[in-house]
Amino acid sequence: MERLDKHLASRGVGTRKEVQKLIKSGAVTVDGSVCKIIDRKIDAENTAVLVNGQPVGEKFIYIMMNKPAGVVSATEDKRDKTVIDILPDELKRRGLFPAGRLDKDTEGLLIITNDGDFAHRMLSPKKHVEKRYIATVDGEISEETIKRFEQGIELSDGYKCMPAKLELAAKNDNNVGIVTICEGKFHQVKRMFAACGLNIVHLQRISIGNLYLNSNLPIGYCKTLTNLEIMQIFIGNIH
Ligand code: URA
Repeated sequence: MERLDKHLASRGVGTRKEVQKLIKSGAVTVDGSVCKIIDRKIDAENTAVLVNGQPVGEKFIYIMMNKPAGVVSATEDKRDKTVIDILPDELKRRGLFPAGRLDKDTEGLLIITNDGDFAHRMLSPKKHVEKRYIATVDGEISEETIKRFEQGIELSDGYKCMPAKLELAAKNDNNVGIVTICEGKFHQVKRMFAACGLNIVHLQRISIGNLYLNSNLPIGYCKTLTNLEIMQIFIGNIH
């Protein structure tokens, strides 16, 4: 059971104060009757709540962002702009958070949601959801580096990474690699290359599971995911 004002606020109708005003004004009906009781307990699954005759939005939101460099993957930060700060206004105050982190200077696919269970499932190391990155490095990616990725790189702190796939993005350019990992350790891709004597000069995440960054989504923009796109995160993942 959920309080009526909380129910409406969590679905983006307004702030808690705004929805309380709305409820008191008589704009809200519960199962067909006007309800002015702000803390009326409702069973959200089985109750029809309308605002000015219209159904309210979904509780859970799933967003694909093409994260720009220069913003941090956090909900708040004293110094830097966060990925939540750059969302459109109507998506703020919905309890959204980034499901996983990209470094401040990394660009590309970031999922933002308010569904904690979903985020947990996506990030759980047990699920082995693959993340794919395009990495531009300051030297040449050799056959030896590709083999070391395949065997599982040992990081400077002694952590042995799981086997990862490294391919050249183009045959005639060995500064750019496509890396696939299914872990998410802090600075993992940078540290894997560093262990092979290479520094990353540009890093972009292009996919999570079978969900690819939409090529027509400009940097800094976001879109809500369809149900199919949400499923694509887990498709092909047998764990
Ligand atoms: N690995 C990194 O080093 N940085 C990222 O942002 C993501 C993966």
